[in-house]
Amino acid sequence: MKSISSKKLKGNILIPGDKSISHRLVILSSIAIGHSNIKGILKSDDIMKTIGAMKNFGASIEFTNPLNCSIKGVGLGGLLEPNSALDFGNSGTSARLIMGLSASHPITTIFVGDKSLSIRPMNRVLKPLVNFGSNYSLRKDNYLPAILKGSDNPIPFSFELGEPSAQIKSAVLLGALNTPGITTVKDKFNTRDHTERLLGLYGANINITKKRNVKEISIKGVNELKGLDLSVPGDPSSALFPIIAALICKNSDIMVKNVLINPTRDGAFKVLKDMGADISFLNHRIMAAEEVCDIRVKSSNLKGIDIPRRLAPTMIDDYPILAVAASMAKGKTYFKGINELRFKESDRFAGILNLLEKNGVRVESKKDTIIIHGKCELKKGGIKIETNLDHRMAMSALIMGLVSKNEVKIDNSETIKTSFPTFYKVMIKIGAKLSKK
Ligand code: S3P
Repeated sequence: MKSISSKKLKGNILIPGDKSISHRLVILSSIAIGHSNIKGILKSDDIMKTIGAMKNFGASIEFTNPLNCSIKGVGLGGLLEPNSALDFGNSGTSARLIMGLSASHPITTIFVGDKSLSIRPMNRVLKPLVNFGSNYSLRKDNYLPAILKGSDNPIPFSFELGEPSAQIKSAVLLGALNTPGITTVKDKFNTRDHTERLLGLYGANINITKKRNVKEISIKGVNELKGLDLSVPGDPSSALFPIIAALICKNSDIMVKNVLINPTRDGAFKVLKDMGADISFLNHRIMAAEEVCDIRVKSSNLKGIDIPRRLAPTMIDDYPILAVAASMAKGKTYFKGINELRFKESDRFAGILNLLEKNGVRVESKKDTIIIHGKCELKKGGIKIETNLDHRMAMSALIMGLVSKNEVKIDNSETIKTSFPTFYKVMIKIGAKLSKK
């Protein structure tokens, strides 16, 4: 796929369901008692990996129409042992959350993934899970394939997050569901909180307190969950691609409907406002224990800002596309405290530097900081970007092409199906010059 300089992006668009919430709804519905109906689920490659795994554990899952999913759960503690390795493709969230879930079941599970997932750290998740009584082995002590032998007598424990990772937190909370007694996770980073919110809705025995800015989440295990009917809000991290496109392409005015607004995910919106973006948040309402709204965006003259490191966990997936916005802003933008970007679908710290430098944007980097020297002018283009199986780097490169004099090409557009299968259709609908060739 490739893209080129575009103007006047206009229209109303719908963004597919949130990826994090879709994973969690599939997992929780699969271990609940009874039926769940999930409307507006994200039907992307990553979610299909979670669905495939949960079917292997014994859940019945079917699509009643393209975006509605009906799930009959196995009940708490009812996971069956898969009789072959589970393939998680590109999806770190599927693999890590399901590691947590299976750690407190008396089953052995083999985890495999694609080239990208097979070089992402897994020890950070599997190590805390040993406290339940599970044990594991990994290639080179850190990478997939993994063999996880879950505990037949899971033991509760108290755990403090050492890295700002919602996947690690969620893995422990999911393991706690089938563990008698109280398991506690302390999160000082304010990582995304969908697992906690949804556990409350499904009827888990969960208690959340906050002491001196540290959140403590406790689960009293072995309490059945009940199936639910829920709708999935639109994914804010996907919404940011057309939103930033509209901000940086001249004479644009778009409306993005039904977008999740969650205080643990909204850092990028706050940053864009501070950069001078003309964005309005309209029609606030509640969906699946989350707030959603419609977002109107008009082209804006952005200015560079210093983004505080404390915001990093609330916008961790959004730095690649924000880097494109920063390259079009007047002055310097500082991305601080972004070391975690090195452990995503690709090394996004390196990926951001490569994308901007190749397109003639001046960047500096130090340890865990990137400084982008923005200029409100068309970039040179005429470049091809290696996406390294990273959907967000692929989409960010294509948005960069919309403000480039010559084409920006990516080497692999299949990877976009990981999180935003309708990306091309949505962008064409608003008038962006994208081409599949
Ligand atoms: C996710 C957590 C984040 C995020 C990922 C989705 C989740 O990963 O980058 O896209 O759904 O819990 P980390 O937990 O590694 O920060």
